[in-house]
Amino acid sequence: TVNEDILTTEMDPTYLYLANKQHPVSENYNPGTMVTLSTDYARRAIQIEERTAAALMAMMDEMRADGVNDAKVTSGYRTFDYQNSLFEKYVNEEMAKGYSRQEAESIAATYSAYPGYSEHQTGFVVDFIGNNDMVLDESFENTAAFGWLAANCWRFGFILRYPKSADKVAITGYNYEPWHYRFV
Ligand code: DAL
Ligand code: ZN
Repeated sequence: TVNEDILTTEMDPTYLYLANKQHPVSENYNPGTMVTLSTDYARRAIQIEERTAAALMAMMDEMRADGVNDAKVTSGYRTFDYQNSLFEKYVNEEMAKGYSRQEAESIAATYSAYPGYSEHQTGFVVDFIGNNDMVLDESFENTAAFGWLAANCWRFGFILRYPKSADKVAITGYNYEPWHYRFV
């Protein structure tokens, strides 16, 4: 059942916090109270900010009530240190293909944020993954969950943060990510 409070509460500026390639997450940023998602909603014990979590669970409950049950959350809140290790992993993968460190960083930066610049550090973000998938790629578009989220996520305060069209990629600085949703 949907918690009506979530859907009707006035917009809170806390949730308008901007994190992108031009606006890093400040060093003293406080992600607020965290909630650990149960495995009903997430693959692992993943943490996100509490009101984001309430909206997410209401959204997923309704999605499932509509018969859509082919995706779960695979990523949520990330610390600076975790984003750092993730970005380094991607840079190393690109370097293993023969790119220089500098080239590898600029390629990695099309799909992963430099530490300090990830929206995941805000606590207001989730990545979904298809139940049968091991990696995040554009095939997430083929899940029923994606179709449902595309039509309904806005009703729960979420947006698809990195859209597909070239003009939006030019603005966000990131490739299309059909799985990444931001609570605002
Ligand atoms: N994949 C998104 C852009 C991030 O690393 O925050
Ligand atoms: Zn993401």
